[in-house]
Amino acid sequence: MKKKILNCLLFLLLLQGVELQASDGVLFNEHWRFYKGDISGGEMPACEDTNWRLLNLPHDWAIEGPFDIKYNARCGGLPFHGTGWYRKTFKAAQAWDGKVVRLAFDGAMSEAKVWVNGHFVGEHPYGYIGFEVDMTPYLRLGEDNVVAVKLTPRDLSSRWYPGAGLYRNVWLRVDEPVHIAQWGIYITTPTVTDKKAVVQIQSTLENRQRKSGIYKLVHSVFDKSGKEVASIANQINLKGETNKESIVYTDVVEPQLWDIETPDLYILKTNVYSGDKLLDTSTTRFGIRKIKFTKKGFFLNGKQVRFQGVCLHHDNGPLGAAFNRRADERKLQIMKEMGANAIRTSHNPPASEFLDLCDELGFVVLDEAFDEWLKPKVPNAYSNYFKEWAERDLTDLIKRDRNHPSVIMWSIGNEILEQSDKQQGFTVAKFLADICRKVDPTRPSTAGFNYYPAPFNFNMAQQVDIAGMNYKPAVYDEVQGSYPDLLIYGSETSSCTSSRGVYHLPIEKYLKHQSLQVTSYDLIGPPWAYPPDMEFHFLEKNPRIMGEFIWTGFDYLGEPTPFGGKDNSTNGYWNSDWPSRSSYFGAVDLCGLPKDRFYLYQSQWSDKPMVHILPHWNWKKGMNIPVYVYTNCDEAELFLNGKSLGKRVKGRDLTTILVDFKYYKEKTFASKYRLSWDVPYEPGTLTVKAYKAGKLIAEKTMTTAGRPARIALIPDRKSIQADGQDLSYVTVRIEDKDGNLCPEADNLVNFSVEGAGHFKAVGNGNAATTESFCVPYRKVFSGMCMLIVQSDKAKKGQIRVTASSKGLKKASLEITSE
Ligand code: GAL
Repeated sequence: MKKKILNCLLFLLLLQGVELQASDGVLFNEHWRFYKGDISGGEMPACEDTNWRLLNLPHDWAIEGPFDIKYNARCGGLPFHGTGWYRKTFKAAQAWDGKVVRLAFDGAMSEAKVWVNGHFVGEHPYGYIGFEVDMTPYLRLGEDNVVAVKLTPRDLSSRWYPGAGLYRNVWLRVDEPVHIAQWGIYITTPTVTDKKAVVQIQSTLENRQRKSGIYKLVHSVFDKSGKEVASIANQINLKGETNKESIVYTDVVEPQLWDIETPDLYILKTNVYSGDKLLDTSTTRFGIRKIKFTKKGFFLNGKQVRFQGVCLHHDNGPLGAAFNRRADERKLQIMKEMGANAIRTSHNPPASEFLDLCDELGFVVLDEAFDEWLKPKVPNAYSNYFKEWAERDLTDLIKRDRNHPSVIMWSIGNEILEQSDKQQGFTVAKFLADICRKVDPTRPSTAGFNYYPAPFNFNMAQQVDIAGMNYKPAVYDEVQGSYPDLLIYGSETSSCTSSRGVYHLPIEKYLKHQSLQVTSYDLIGPPWAYPPDMEFHFLEKNPRIMGEFIWTGFDYLGEPTPFGGKDNSTNGYWNSDWPSRSSYFGAVDLCGLPKDRFYLYQSQWSDKPMVHILPHWNWKKGMNIPVYVYTNCDEAELFLNGKSLGKRVKGRDLTTILVDFKYYKEKTFASKYRLSWDVPYEPGTLTVKAYKAGKLIAEKTMTTAGRPARIALIPDRKSIQADGQDLSYVTVRIEDKDGNLCPEADNLVNFSVEGAGHFKAVGNGNAATTESFCVPYRKVFSGMCMLIVQSDKAKKGQIRVTASSKGLKKASLEITSE
């Protein structure tokens, strides 16, 4: 009954879109004790943990640092490896007598081992996929019980920052012996027309008692307004200690289709009865939509959609890998603003709430399982578990995620080293792609291939339904010619690098500038990289290619390419350019502040009239400054201090950029995607006016800034929820007395956060600094930094933020927590 009320409540919340639960159950995140290090007997109830740190999950133990050259810069230069213990003492209710009581971990980084009252109950090595443990046999009802989790993430176990700890949600599930199995509801829509959708509901009922019985399942479908629009019931004869699947169909009349622009959702509520007694309730959100992959491209509800995609790692910069719904939501909103319509969860399963957000915001998703199979890229990563775990992990990933309308493909791997192995590449690809086809026949399998032509010659690429190509735009036509039946898209593209607000002049190819920053003219990358313009060009030439997924939407912790090569003096770690320790690949920086490249993509991906101008306008008199303009308008005119420097027409006036790309013969590329002027520098204002069909529709001005005079605080939201989780991201700008951004300022700013919230983290997008994310002060980088403020739980009221810096006018801000 309690669960029924809980589920009703949950259902109401679901309909209001307030909070979605990843799995039926209640959150089990509060009051954990944490110890960093190994403890003999840490699993035993008697272990003294009262002096361990008390905290709430999700928690990433490594983000607090310190950054240190002794850690691998490739993984963020943070102390993620080693042993960590979590323990929680909880009362097991008498009412749980006769019930099945389980804990579901949405992800534990990594090599998790779990005990209940000293009894081993389960383990899971791969940190990115969830698992359940059954506590039932070991619980002491009416008494205190202890769950203990030991995690041992290993050094050299990742090519990026994985985070560490119980970094996703943990759920408690208390079920009757007969209940819906984990991930036991699978909804598909085999027929979809404007008039009617056929909804297929496959449910797995689990019986944990000896007794067999007859059970009734009642399925009801609700639309987004909460109206019941369909229902169907079926009966199941279930033997003792077995699971049984059943399939029923129901119709939704005049369905509201899930789409990128209108991501309408439905909810299925399934009740399980024995006679009149309600045994279990499960709520599942789903969407009604049609996907089709053809030689002409990808079609969503009959309309062609080209992937304007971004690859995203799972961390949230200064917050580390710990799941936070608002941080993920903001990440996706920023990507949407850039014009992205597709996400690739590189190179691992995301938190399932991330997919909830993609469902709600309207993104299509390529859900990726692995970065390696049997051949290791780094010594201690997944290849160690592949043989034993790959089938289960891939199956679980698909079962967990197959009700999300946003998910359109399963990726079985990224740049797998088996590509160069004639036999093994084919065999393993077939094995994994067959799992995808079996567990979810409604979506194609894919993988990202970068060793062209080997995996195509070896019949490996042909084992997946759709072949992803990493960094090969120049051979799209060749591949289509050689393999006319293959469906292809750019699974990873560009890998252009830059540091927000940093410009090196004169423009040239500094692969590794001594500042450990990369110029933001959007030209530079490692040998396999190329400017975004080239991908745009080749996609235009090859309309059959389904689109691209850029590397990457956001900067992420670790992989500081082009810096951070192998350093033999520090165990061969990737930290030779210390403190360079996070990526330069993002279109936005680690804090979510847009770099220039954000606007280059926006000019290509968005119809909303826009114009962007770079670099900044604080130079030395007499310098010759290359000025680039990114716009989706037809033409643009540049004015220096009111004087026209001429109009440039898109498509006619090309910008010659330097390229150095392995697969492209030429050393220059004439880009129609950026307009340019060479401007002899004079202080003042540089304005660009952009026109469409002769009409002025977008304009931007840069003004030479004077000396830093004041701080400006700009919150992304002035009102947040008092749930102890919600965040306000406050952009901090150093401005001159007239409010112009000081583009080269690096002032140290001190923060205080009081009232109904607290300081959560701070960052500035500088990829080469060891400053902590967890202290309430920060130097700005290129004039800006980001303060992240969090609400306190159940404390409504004002959050007062103040910022001060030596010699500058203070700033303050109030955020409402309600
Ligand atoms: C790709 C790889 C990504 C990332 C990227 C950087 O080869 O798949 O994970 O390393 O290169 O350019």
